[in-house]
Amino acid sequence: MIGADSLRYNSALTVSAELLVTDRIERACSMPRMNLEGSSAIVTGGASGIGEASARQLADLGSRVVIADLNEQRGQAVASEIGGLFVKCDVSSEEDGATAVAAASEMGPVRALVNSAGLGRASRTVDRNNDPASQSDFDFVIKINLLGSFNMLRQSAAAMAKTDALDADGTKGAIVNMASVAAFDGQIGQAAYSASKGGIVGMTLPIARDLSAVGVRVNTIAPGLIDTPIYGEGEQSDQFKAHLGQSVLFPKRLGSAEELAFMVTELITNPYMNGEVIRVDGGIRMPPK
Ligand SMILES: NC(=O)c1ccc[n+]([C@@H]2O[C@H](COP(=O)([O-])OP(=O)(O)OC[C@H]3O[C@@H](n4cnc5c(N)ncnc54)[C@H](O)[C@@H]3O)[C@@H](O)[C@H]2O)c1
Repeated sequence: MIGADSLRYNSALTVSAELLVTDRIERACSMPRMNLEGSSAIVTGGASGIGEASARQLADLGSRVVIADLNEQRGQAVASEIGGLFVKCDVSSEEDGATAVAAASEMGPVRALVNSAGLGRASRTVDRNNDPASQSDFDFVIKINLLGSFNMLRQSAAAMAKTDALDADGTKGAIVNMASVAAFDGQIGQAAYSASKGGIVGMTLPIARDLSAVGVRVNTIAPGLIDTPIYGEGEQSDQFKAHLGQSVLFPKRLGSAEELAFMVTELITNPYMNGEVIRVDGGIRMPPK
């Protein structure tokens, strides 16, 4: 008798536990993510690599994407494949930034900016001939990576601020910047690049605080070694990338642009992600060279 009772009791417990789990899954799945359907987005550097993969995923989520890039040929091709629009834009130009943001606003309320345009110029602070590094190269890297990111961010955020809120929290938009692990473990020759990316890391929290007043979230990704045209193309570059991949903790390979874009769309659509810098790097910690 006791055995049958406890059996009945146990199976009742199992059933209610199952119901609880189902209920939890249903609740988790029905929690709203930021809805991009019918919205517009701006992706700088969207003609290539991480920016291109991000633009494709944002378009899949229902956004009309402005590809804001200097590369006209690639930019036009990507934009037409994803039903977006190419705008030739140097991110460091106030005027080009305004044109890109205006073009996005015409396609729908601006809800997302991905600041992916960026470049590097390696040089030692004092070279092998004891000559100082080029100051203009340093200025140029800061101008594109750091000042360009802020230029696009401030203008996009102002457009987002003018839209109607999407939800009861008052969310109007979300921004993702692309820094680099070089912001933390910069290598020999990376003073300018690391300074530019460190600047992006440093401005993330204060900007998130500024933009909390207008319902815009801001996060930054610090990618590790990602397989994009930034490493060039062809056999030699493939060998170089295979070699680089061995220094990654796990998995022992370069990351793909799509893997980076997964994090971009997560940071844009997850309503509770704000003011954060996230490494996406397979656990790598860069050595001095
Ligand atoms: N690939 C990596 O391993 C890696 C690692 C860490 C950080 N990052 C960062 O991620 C971002 C994307 O890198 P990627 O590997 O996709 O590079 P990529 O070279 O494939 O793409 C960069 C794009 O930016 C565009 N661009 C360059 N200068 C511009 C300007 N002034 N205005 C507008 N567009 C401009 C280029 O035309 C290009 O289409 C960059 O900011 C880069 O520093 C990349």
